[in-house]
Amino acid sequence: MRKRSASAKAAKDSATIAVYSAKGGVGKTTLSANLAWCSAALAGHRTLLWDLDAAGGAGFLYGVEPRKSKQAEDVFSQERDPAKLIRKTAFDGLDVLPADNSIRRLNEQLAQLGKRKRLAKLVARLGADYQRIILDCPPVMNEISAQVIRAADIIIVPLPPSPLSNRAFDLVVDEIKGSGKAHPPILPVLSMLDMRRTLHRQAREANPDWPAIPYSSVIEQCAVRQMPVGAFARSSPSAARFAHLWNAVDRKLVQRSTS
Ligand SMILES: Nc1ncnc2c1ncn2[C@@H]1O[C@H](COP(=O)(O)OP(=O)(O)OP(=O)(O)O)[C@@H](O)[C@H]1O
Ligand SMILES: [Mg+2]
Repeated sequence: MRKRSASAKAAKDSATIAVYSAKGGVGKTTLSANLAWCSAALAGHRTLLWDLDAAGGAGFLYGVEPRKSKQAEDVFSQERDPAKLIRKTAFDGLDVLPADNSIRRLNEQLAQLGKRKRLAKLVARLGADYQRIILDCPPVMNEISAQVIRAADIIIVPLPPSPLSNRAFDLVVDEIKGSGKAHPPILPVLSMLDMRRTLHRQAREANPDWPAIPYSSVIEQCAVRQMPVGAFARSSPSAARFAHLWNAVDRKLVQRSTS
């Protein structure tokens, strides 16, 4: 009895963070992987990084491969317990649910199942074990993104800086609002910001309140070292920017759960 109420409380305190954009190559996976490290290592949350993109590589950034191929889709049909596919990383409190090739069929699978809240229910169950669940999303506008919007407590939208940043953000917001339902808060983040470039400076000036992640060789190195920035360059400005962004996200989530 006691155990049950403890896990119910954990599920209530748990939150799901989606890193999403309909555009490819904007820094979603890099951001997801680094925020997951901040969540576990800096905030001390038990954290799950869930890779929803067959080609995405969130698992790769932690040197984690799926144990077997063609099983990730079974989680969505409820033929397989996600716990069986979850892998530990080298970092305390940080696990990964890697994607495999079967995820390529996820959109059709979800559409056929007709269970509009399947992802939301899966993350709610995982919330008994994890305080923060970070979804690394594929660059799509389909049933997967619709389910992500229903499952998330906050949606982070990375936007490479350009005079079109506001427009790009508005398009994503329209898409999210287009679901016709109440949607979670949306947080735009200027990604790959290079202040030596005029257009980037202009985008920064136009959006001074948006959190920003710099374009940096340290961040690029994540894919080479298969580690988050905080693990190999903890005192770098890039690590500080990820930590700053994480604090902003976590504050919003704590306000939500206490309000
Ligand atoms: N802040 C950054 N500084 C330097 N390089 C970056 C930064 N963010 C991402 N990159 C690099 O840009 C490329 C694309 O990043 P990433 O894979 O995170 O984008 P994505 O939005 O997940 O792409 P996809 O839509 O294909 O899944 C990668 O090579 C990554 O290493
Ligand atoms: Mg990606």
